[in-house]
Amino acid sequence: MSVVSTPATLKHAAGMIDDAEARRIRNDFPILSQQVNGSPLVYLDSGATSQNPLCVLEAEQEYYEQRNAAVHRGAHMLAVSATDAFENARETVAGFINAGMDEVVWTSNATEAINLIAYAFSNASVGRGGDAAARFVVGPGDELVVTEMEHHANLIPWQELAFRTGATLRYIPVDDAGALRLDEAEHIIGPRTKVVAFTHASNVLGTINPVATLVRLAREAGAAVVLDACQSVPHMGVDVKALDVDFAAFSGHKMLGPTGIGVLYGRAELLNAMPPFLTGGSMITTVTMEKAEYLPSPQRFEAGTQRISQAVALAAAVDYLRETGMDRIHAWEAELGQRLVAGLEAIDGVRVLGPAAGAERIGLAAFDVDGVHAHDVGQFLDDKGIAVRVGHHCAQPLHRRLGLVATTRASTYLYNTTDDVDAFLDAVAGVRPFFGVN
Ligand SMILES: Cc1ncc(COP(=O)(O)O)c(C=O)c1O
Repeated sequence: MSVVSTPATLKHAAGMIDDAEARRIRNDFPILSQQVNGSPLVYLDSGATSQNPLCVLEAEQEYYEQRNAAVHRGAHMLAVSATDAFENARETVAGFINAGMDEVVWTSNATEAINLIAYAFSNASVGRGGDAAARFVVGPGDELVVTEMEHHANLIPWQELAFRTGATLRYIPVDDAGALRLDEAEHIIGPRTKVVAFTHASNVLGTINPVATLVRLAREAGAAVVLDACQSVPHMGVDVKALDVDFAAFSGHKMLGPTGIGVLYGRAELLNAMPPFLTGGSMITTVTMEKAEYLPSPQRFEAGTQRISQAVALAAAVDYLRETGMDRIHAWEAELGQRLVAGLEAIDGVRVLGPAAGAERIGLAAFDVDGVHAHDVGQFLDDKGIAVRVGHHCAQPLHRRLGLVATTRASTYLYNTTDDVDAFLDAVAGVRPFFGVN
């Protein structure tokens, strides 16, 4: 029944990705063939949002042309077909991270996924969910632990949970190089800790955090582990069972999928004990005028009509990533990331945040150009067709800690080539001369 095309690149899933293959991959992404300001587009903003291969666009279109209907409640053929597509998509995404089907909850993005967990904790704290939810109750004397490098999406929901419940928010600081102070973490995570929430890979520093160490500390304290996997799941193989985290959150639009869909992974035992966040249709078994009984996970967290076409398209993105090979993608981006950092470090007046060249990092680099505001850097690069992100990248506390207000960030993905990186480095080398800064 599928009319979705098979990308040519997927026939090359052996050996390392190289420039030739990255160029073939790039051809699968219609948006990347355009000119911007008279130059070929160099897209280095995938850390913010990635682009979609044709097969993803086609999957969404095919869904609307062939299957569109409300899922889980219709008795007609289209409703069955839509439900199959929706649940098959869940199975695909669950398999991608080694989760069970009842452990993958659709949300609109990672931000909503993290809010879902935080609100489930506060609902439990006001008595919702009964005895089963007792382990999610937090209040005065309890502590929620995050890190100083968190994206606001994995900081503010915990601040708000602390405000609502009287719990205390604590954070693991970063050192001057941007690495987590694990010596401090040993003291911060303790018997009062109820949640340890941290990012797998930093969207600013590029560091990959020591998940095993933090999980061990959380386990010893009896705390729940929440992993922000926004910058890891799209770029490397992530096995939630091997990582032994309780919850993980990521967004479809950062992994070749559409906007409007995100994923909350949770251990089934926890999800089935947690009170829901959003309530309404489709998540109940029985309703009276006084109260309602809820379905098990994942339906208990999927109130209302769902983002069906987005789930279907995300599954097509996952198939594309899988067939290309997550290890190969990770290795290629690591190579591009090292080229980025080494090249930036060689430019006078440029300070790169995070690990130095040679040290492990994901394929992105945020940097400061001495004497030139990040917005001017971004504008200068855009004039040459180079798309980067400027600002605080939703990590104001981290920027403040490093003595900066805003930085410029270049982030790569499987469709970038060394030519993209070199064009970007040449342009950055021209920034200070252009603005007359010595
Ligand atoms: C590390 C990290 N966490 C969370 C988010 C939030 O993702 P979204 O805006 O898709 O919810 C982002 C997005 O930039 C991110 O990079």
